[in-house]
Amino acid sequence: MMSEGLAPLTVAVHSVRRSARDELAADVRAGLMRPPRWLPPRWFYDEEGSRLFDLITELPEYYQTRTETAILRDHAASIAALAAPEALIELGAGSCSKTRVLIDACRARRTLRIFTPFDVSDNVVWRTSHELVDEYPGLTVYGMVGDFTSHLGFIPRLGRRLVVFLGSTIGNLEGDERNAFLHEVRSLLDRGDTFLCGFDLVKDHAELVSAYDDSAGVTAAFNRNVLRVVNRELGADFDVDAFAHVALYDPTHERIEMHLRAERPQAVHIPGAEMRVDLAGGETVRTEISAKFTRVSVEGMLAEASMQLEEWFTDPAERFALALASPVTRRRPTRR
Ligand code: SAH
Ligand code: TRP
Repeated sequence: MMSEGLAPLTVAVHSVRRSARDELAADVRAGLMRPPRWLPPRWFYDEEGSRLFDLITELPEYYQTRTETAILRDHAASIAALAAPEALIELGAGSCSKTRVLIDACRARRTLRIFTPFDVSDNVVWRTSHELVDEYPGLTVYGMVGDFTSHLGFIPRLGRRLVVFLGSTIGNLEGDERNAFLHEVRSLLDRGDTFLCGFDLVKDHAELVSAYDDSAGVTAAFNRNVLRVVNRELGADFDVDAFAHVALYDPTHERIEMHLRAERPQAVHIPGAEMRVDLAGGETVRTEISAKFTRVSVEGMLAEASMQLEEWFTDPAERFALALASPVTRRRPTRR
């Protein structure tokens, strides 16, 4: 067994609290110093943020999770047959509710030995790892707390790999970050390994916007939570309730943008970042982008990172897709 020697449950922590706070301070300085203001999305996901995100996945307007789960249910057996992983690695795993479908299918084929949930949120990795090791006797769980934009190289190699990245989280990266991320993923893959990635597809704008602006206000609460994180971690004094949640679709970039809009002027002190921010009334802070894709755009991105599409699984209405990709090994140029 490749995972021999590992304890049934390991949690490796690559993103520790103290250094995370320094990174938050650096991000806050870079993003809030001057307009256009923005914050990177990883700071949404403290304990409360992860809880709110799980509520988002159950909202009637948020079709993405339901649709992706249905696609997985329909195709998990084929994916398990094609990928035949010994090691399943899930980036941005969260509570792994969809992954269980895949774990079941891989267990049915008796290839799977080890599961690695990888997430920046420490409490989520702890909770999920404990749950999975209880639910799946004999499965080794190697949880990792880290940032998938910088710690992928620390993932141990423990047999044939299937790397999965669900929920269209890839759309939350900017174009250049996304390309860099895909190159990193590619470098995790040897011949025979595979990458399964979820993509939310371009569609009717109103349907997209309502998925990010639900009538119960859960997404609004999730969005505002990032300011609570900055208040708590850096001692800031954002008046959180004085911000409105804004979700809009940018058709040029084919992406949703989420902002927080200061409803009145605010002078904010952020001691942990040694700064003061003067927000004008109506000024916005961009907190998230969520890019939307097509089969053609996905094939292009994969090719750019030396990967190729093996299978494209989608729902009947083509709302969402799962792409199964493999590494392209470049032949050495032959001399003549
Ligand atoms: N895979 C789940 C969760 C998606 S939400 C699903 O499809 O429903 C995005 C997840 O990625 C969260 O759990 C969040 O904590 C994690 N995440 C966000 N930014 C991250 C980063 N930079 N590195 C690692 N994990 C990150
Ligand atoms: N990956 C998810 C998406 O882009 C993340 C997400 C869903 C999200 N709803 C959100 C992020 C609201 C910020 C705010 O669909």
